[in-house]
Amino acid sequence: MSRCVLFLLVAVLLPLTEGWWFIRTNSRQKAEGDIKRDCIAKAKKGTCDFFVCFDQRHPCEHSNYALSFGWKFCTAFDQHYARFDAEAKNWINGTRKCVMEAMLEFYNEEHVNCQDVSEEMKDAHGRCGAENGICSLPLLHNNKHVLTDIYGVNEKTLHRMALFFKHCGKNTFYAIGDWFTDTFKGIWPKVDNFFSGFGDKLKEGFEATKDTLKEWGNTLKDVFT
Ligand SMILES: *[C@@H]1O[C@H](CO)[C@@H](O)[C@H](O)[C@H]1NC(C)=O
Repeated sequence: MSRCVLFLLVAVLLPLTEGWWFIRTNSRQKAEGDIKRDCIAKAKKGTCDFFVCFDQRHPCEHSNYALSFGWKFCTAFDQHYARFDAEAKNWINGTRKCVMEAMLEFYNEEHVNCQDVSEEMKDAHGRCGAENGICSLPLLHNNKHVLTDIYGVNEKTLHRMALFFKHCGKNTFYAIGDWFTDTFKGIWPKVDNFFSGFGDKLKEGFEATKDTLKEWGNTLKDVFT
């Protein structure tokens, strides 16, 4: 009899505890809004409002890629659109459609994990930007001022730019590295001092940037030795 109870307990509790474990490590949230046809149309056209649509369906408390990255920069590029040359305008339009196409997959899901969305979308953004022309040196040089006006010359931007450039391939790497250091040279001496005064979280962010740069350095070595 007691054996039977024990068996029952194990049979009932084991899946339960596994269930708890599952919820804690893969916290996925249920969609709050319906899928809307005009939202899908906005994504297909590459309209910034799609990011607002996304947030209405999957409002992410933390790691909110849709608003704090997607919408924020999409609208900033809209505001400065006239300042870009023709090549960059094509890059912007192509990148948007590509990013939103990737994001539509999450939009259509009934449950999402906000952290996964954020990580995968940042990667998709880098890939889309590279596929649509950010690796072009003329584009980078001719639009440098407007790009740095939008992103700012700071360590966050270093990291954001690195997301693009790691998809550019070895051949364009060296030249882009030059553009990169030229654009950001103003912040190099300040960066270390700046971060030593802050908490661990910021330091971690900077370490990640340094790691990315180290990776670049290694790739550069591969190319030229
Ligand atoms: C980019 O998209 C906007 C809005 O859809 C459009 O007005 C513009 O003509 C497009 N530009 C290019 C270069 O395709």
